[in-house]
Amino acid sequence: MPHFNVSNLEMFRAVVEAAWYKKSPVLIGTSEGERDFIGLNQAVALIHSYREQYQLPFYLNADHTHSVEAAKKAIDAGYDSIHIDLSKLSIDENIKGTREIVEYARSKNSAISVEGEIGYIVTDSSKIYESVVEVPPESLARPEEAERFVKETGVDRLAPAVGSIHGIAANKPHLDFSRIERIRGVVPVVALVLHGGSGESDEQIKMAIEKGIANVHVSTDLRVAYVDALKKELAKNEYAPYKITGPALEAAKTVVAFNIDLFGSAGKV
Ligand code: G3H
Ligand code: ZN
Repeated sequence: MPHFNVSNLEMFRAVVEAAWYKKSPVLIGTSEGERDFIGLNQAVALIHSYREQYQLPFYLNADHTHSVEAAKKAIDAGYDSIHIDLSKLSIDENIKGTREIVEYARSKNSAISVEGEIGYIVTDSSKIYESVVEVPPESLARPEEAERFVKETGVDRLAPAVGSIHGIAANKPHLDFSRIERIRGVVPVVALVLHGGSGESDEQIKMAIEKGIANVHVSTDLRVAYVDALKKELAKNEYAPYKITGPALEAAKTVVAFNIDLFGSAGKV
């Protein structure tokens, strides 16, 4: 299941249109910043409108929600999926807040999917690091922690830190496949999520899926394609906004289509 972050209407459209073209299910993510920009209710209205138009499994995820309050707001607004990310807190506090969101979501609508996160990712999306980013071993998720987390929270999806980073860096291939396999082994009932899909080699992504990853998040690659195309258009003598943003939308679409093929989700609907 591919997951792409969107910041605006053009990127939203890029994901929907590429997924439709590829006949792929898709999760559209808005981080807290992205959903503040688009508008919580407006993002929900958009997903409903596109789902109705295309009659395909397109869902909206409240990506990297760092507080219980913000997660509840997204649930109340009608998000299909919540990623409650309390991974910077202690494991006990993370479990407590995540469980609260699982219970809250279930009480509102049993179809809402909840994702929790353990271990922590050291960088942010959108950044392009010239050098190698250090991924400390203590930031990686431990299988015993994964088992406890899933049992005590009841999440549907689990994002364990397995060596990937947000953004793009000069790191050599670095995903910890044996960790993915071990975590998969202890929590077979949940879907495993890989964050930081940008900048990973195709081989690393494919192997991660083979080892048990069911959902891959991509943001920076999409933003880079969109912004680079936009910069090119802005250099021209054109003042019709849709003529400037149109090519940026197309550039983002190409990235979405490429990743859908890479993840093997094309033709699945
Ligand atoms: O939740 C968003 C993703 O983890 C994006 O990571 O910017 O490295 O593609 P990325
Ligand atoms: Zn992420």
